Amino acid sequence: MYFKFTFCPIILLLWASLSFAQNVNVVIHGAASIAKTDDNFVCVTLDWWPAEKCDYNQCPWGKAGILNLDLRYGALINAIKAFNPLRIKVGGSLQDNVVYKVGEVSSCPNFMKREDGLFGFSQGCLSMERWDQLNRFFNHTGVKLTFGLNALFGRNESQTEKGLWIGDWQPQNTRDFMQYTISKGYNVDSYEFGNQLSGSGMGAKVDAKQYGKDVIVLKNLVKELYAHPETQPKVLGPGGFYEEKWFNTFLEVSGRGIVDGLTHHIYNLGPGDDPNMMNKILDPSYLNQVSQTYKGVSDVVNKYRPQLGAWVTESGGALNGGSKDVSRTFADGFWYLDQMGMASTYDQKVFCRQALIGGNYGLLNATTFVPNPDYYGALL
Ligand SMILES: *[C@@H]1O[C@H](CO)[C@@H](O)[C@H](O)[C@H]1NC(C)=O
Ligand SMILES: *[C@@H]1O[C@H](CO)[C@@H](O)[C@H](O)[C@H]1NC(C)=O
Ligand SMILES: *[C@@H]1O[C@H](CO)[C@@H](O)[C@H](O)[C@H]1NC(C)=O
Repeated sequence: MYFKFTFCPIILLLWASLSFAQNVNVVIHGAASIAKTDDNFVCVTLDWWPAEKCDYNQCPWGKAGILNLDLRYGALINAIKAFNPLRIKVGGSLQDNVVYKVGEVSSCPNFMKREDGLFGFSQGCLSMERWDQLNRFFNHTGVKLTFGLNALFGRNESQTEKGLWIGDWQPQNTRDFMQYTISKGYNVDSYEFGNQLSGSGMGAKVDAKQYGKDVIVLKNLVKELYAHPETQPKVLGPGGFYEEKWFNTFLEVSGRGIVDGLTHHIYNLGPGDDPNMMNKILDPSYLNQVSQTYKGVSDVVNKYRPQLGAWVTESGGALNGGSKDVSRTFADGFWYLDQMGMASTYDQKVFCRQALIGGNYGLLNATTFVPNPDYYGALL
């Protein structure tokens, strides 16, 4: 094999640097841990995006959205079962735009492209027939489920400040939805309150004090409907980008024992169409910058001590569907595996990859269900 090195400068370089480094002693104190993850640290998301969701002149969701995904494919079922169990979060941008067709809600419209709609779509709907199908699928594949709730229900956009949603959250539709879920015996590990409504939001935002009050309403609802503490789903929030002041106010207003897990999202690679994406992914100093966010979140957790600590409930690397050329490749693992390592050293308990399927960052190809390299990274 040795002769090969002379023909390959890259391997030669690697070999040279390895031999340069051979006198370094590494000591690992196996008995002392710096942090502890949840048993189900590896988590993936399923998103609501319809096939019409496009970014940068391409539409990478196809039939991978929660309402469209064909749940009968063996490749999909086996990909999930391999984790035994896999934690899945159902959520995403459109979750605050979804009504549940149960109780007083009788019409069930599909998401339609709409210029003035939240994230460019009209309101969508989850029928209980689809919810039944999804739960049969989750049960069959042994999924540990986090369900992201619509936290804008009943609010209106402010007339004076664009993007700010005001008024109290109205829990009736969620109450009916939970009652249905309980009556069917479906297991929900946790409910997450809203998607990316914290801080300056992504298209929509809610004031931290208001959100803190609303999450108390949600917690009381869960306690009322799920009478047995041991089977009571946990309450997570706010499921958005970390902003110090907003997160502190949110936990201060909600108080102890309300938010079980403090959840946030990480997109540290910027917009998916950045031509410089590969360089960012391969640059350790760039990747390390986001440690400030993890540190901030873990400081807030140390202050308010939510029972389940901090979770990353959505992270796809690059925004707006991921990077067409990079997210599905082997190179993306330099971002993904590094993030999982970094998140765990900052005591983040769970890390949800956007997405199991769909977008350019899906772990599975949305049309063939063939695993991308990061799927194996997750499994490993
Ligand atoms: C699947 O459903 C059965 C029957 O309701 C239940 O006993 C079992 O715990 C469920 N499994 C999962 C993984 O939710
Ligand atoms: C939102 O708007 C609707 C319709 O205009 C109105 O009935 C409702 O009271 C408003 N809610 C809040 C919280 O302002
Ligand atoms: C999925 O696989 C097909 C066939 O190999 C390929 O043309 C397509 O680009 C892949 N899609 C993604 C998002 O990787």
